[in-house]
Amino acid sequence: MNFENILFEENENIGYITINRPNKLNALNKATIAELNEAFESAREDHDIKVVILSGSGEKAFVAGADISEFADFSAEEGRRLAAEGQEKLFNVVANFPKPVIAAVNGFALGGGLELAMSAHFRIASDNARMGLPEVSLGVIPGYGGTQRLPQLVGKGKAMEMIMTAGMIDAKEALEYRLVNHVTAPEDLIPLAEKIAAKIMNNSMTAIAAAIKAVNANYEAGVNGFEVEIDEFGSSFGTEDFKEGTSAFLNKRKANFSGK
Ligand code: COA
Repeated sequence: MNFENILFEENENIGYITINRPNKLNALNKATIAELNEAFESAREDHDIKVVILSGSGEKAFVAGADISEFADFSAEEGRRLAAEGQEKLFNVVANFPKPVIAAVNGFALGGGLELAMSAHFRIASDNARMGLPEVSLGVIPGYGGTQRLPQLVGKGKAMEMIMTAGMIDAKEALEYRLVNHVTAPEDLIPLAEKIAAKIMNNSMTAIAAAIKAVNANYEAGVNGFEVEIDEFGSSFGTEDFKEGTSAFLNKRKANFSGK
């Protein structure tokens, strides 16, 4: 696959998807969103990939937002379509991805960048990271899920303050807000993501896909998460991984999951 705006590679069962427009602080233009969609769809099908690490190129930014130069002259209808298409093609794809997606926030994560990080299943950050939703300073609101996912992660009051002030928080504050799970030196960020990925990969990937569905069900309007949990729990009993996991435990050996 030939990408112009992202890097996509697989190594030791990890898919590395890296936004690669460092001169534009990895701002998300239409082409980048389309390439990210393609990379995620290909990571979905690639049996070698068990976990995805999402990050940004360069030392300065994860993603500094949607590409402002692309939408500055949009009409209301075009704006609506921009948000709808972005949510469908990328942000919801990441949030509902059946394999764990870890956002490694290596610098600015602003606007669409923070929204992308928040779509991931969880986030870790380098100590130079800065996060915010500056949209109201541009006369617009977050359109890639930010008004929904930020309150889910940090609570309504903090989310309202971040959105209304359009200000940035640093990595330490993001940790206090529980927006990120861990903060580390920039050079340790990807190694930490890899260490967490390695721990995840000891477990059943079919069970993990089911757990992602059940946890996400809590945030879907009109869906009863407890019922989704019951269904996913039941389905687990029909998998090879369940037989392997339980028999390994009973025989006091390490499980060797096939992911089926
Ligand atoms: N969209 C388009 N281009 C962007 C961008 C964005 N969201 N964020 C950064 N860039 C571009 C800049 O225009 C600049 O391009 P140029 O060199 O061709 O002029 C380049 O990336 C470097 O950015 P610059 O502003 O010079 O870096 P800085 O270190 O002075 O400032 C930021 C960094 C993140 C504070 C600043 O770039 C910024 O405020 N970006 C916009 C953030 C934002 O509002 N995002 C939400 C969009 S909805």
